[in-house]
Amino acid sequence: MIPFSDPSASYQAHKSEIDQAVKRVLDSGWYVLGTEVDAFEEEFASFHGKDFHAVGVANGTDAVALCLRGLGLGTGDEVITPSHTAVATVAGIEQAGCTPVFADIEPNTRCLYPKSIEERVGTNTRAVMPVHIYGQPAEMHKVLKIAKAHNLAVVEDCSQAHGAEIDGQKVGTFADISAYSCYPTKNLGGTGDGGVILCRSKEFAEKIKSLRQYGWNEARESIIPGFNSRLDEMQAAILRVKLEHLADDNNKRRVIALRYNEGFKKLPITLPALKENELHAMHLYVIECDQRNELMEYLRSHQIGASLHYPKAVHQHSAYKNRIRGWDNLPVTHQFYQRNLTLPMFPELSDEKVDKIVSAVTSFFKY
Ligand SMILES: Cc1ncc(COP(=O)(O)O)c(C=O)c1O
Repeated sequence: MIPFSDPSASYQAHKSEIDQAVKRVLDSGWYVLGTEVDAFEEEFASFHGKDFHAVGVANGTDAVALCLRGLGLGTGDEVITPSHTAVATVAGIEQAGCTPVFADIEPNTRCLYPKSIEERVGTNTRAVMPVHIYGQPAEMHKVLKIAKAHNLAVVEDCSQAHGAEIDGQKVGTFADISAYSCYPTKNLGGTGDGGVILCRSKEFAEKIKSLRQYGWNEARESIIPGFNSRLDEMQAAILRVKLEHLADDNNKRRVIALRYNEGFKKLPITLPALKENELHAMHLYVIECDQRNELMEYLRSHQIGASLHYPKAVHQHSAYKNRIRGWDNLPVTHQFYQRNLTLPMFPELSDEKVDKIVSAVTSFFKY
C-alpha cells in the first residue's frame, strides 16, 4: 500500500543526521528542556525572521491552548475558527477554557471565509484562529483587517503549514502569535509529540515559558497557575535536523502536487489551488469529486492509501454536535465533507508512484 504520509521515509532520508542528533542527546544526560530545545527555539524563530521568538511545547494542542492562555483569554471568551480542521484546534481552544465559534470556509482555499468571520463576531468574541489547512495559507490580510475592525486577537494555527508563504512572508508571522504541531506526520515532524509557539514579543515568549512549566519563575516559584507542556531534548534535536531540510522538503511536496495537478487536469475533480503569489506547504494533497467513496475504494483496492481529512467536520463529531455556535450555518464545509479525498503526499514519494496513482485515478474515471 502506498501510504498517504510516511514519517519513516523522512527518517531514512535524513538518517545519519538524526542518528547523530539522538546520540548527542543520549550522551548528554539531559533529556527535557535543555540546550537542544534552546537551539531549536532560536533556529525556528530565525527561520521566520529576525524579530521573532519561539517556545517549544509538548504538542500542537497545547500550543493552541497556551497561545490563548498567554493572551489572558479564558472562560466566556469566544474564539472564531473553522469546523473544517483537526479536532485538535477546537480541543485546544476548549482546553484554554475559551468557547469556540464556527465560521464557514471559502471553497477555493478551504480556509476561513472572511465574510463568515464577520457574521459570527458577537459581544463575547475575543479572538479569531485561522487554520492554514493542508498547507494552504488562509487569507491573512483579510482576516487581520476584520480582526482590527472588531478588536480581536489573531492566533494562526500553522500546524499543517510550516514554511508556507504569502507574497514572500511566512505564515505564522501575520498574527502576533502562532501555534504549530510537530507531530511525526507534519511537514516539520519529530518522532514523538512536540509543538512550538512563535511570537513577536519577548515578554510573551517568557510568559509562555513560564506557563509551560507550572507557571514558574527563575526561582522555581509558581507565579501564575501553569501546566506541564515541556518539549523534550530528543524531539528538539530531531526537529533541528528536520528544520534544515524543511524548505527543500516542502519544495519536493509542491513538485509532486504539480505532477498530480497536471495528470488530473482533464478529470472531473477539483484540485488544490496553487497560487502564484503563495508557497503552499502541501502538507496534504486533497482533491474533491462527486464519486469520492467509490474512488477511495477503487484506489485502496489498487494498493493506494487514499484517505479522508477528515471523515467529519468537527461539529459533526458527537463530542461537539449542536453545541458550538455557528454549527448550523456552514454550507461550504458541509459540501466539502461529501467530496474530499486525500491522496498520498510526502517528500520522498517517487515519480513512479505518483504516475501509478495518476493512472489509477484516470482509469477509475475512464471505466
Ligand atoms: C490544524 C491542527 N491544529 C492542531 C493540531 C494539534 O497538534 P497535536 O496533535 O500535536 O496536538 C493538529 C495536529 O493534528 C492540526 O492538524
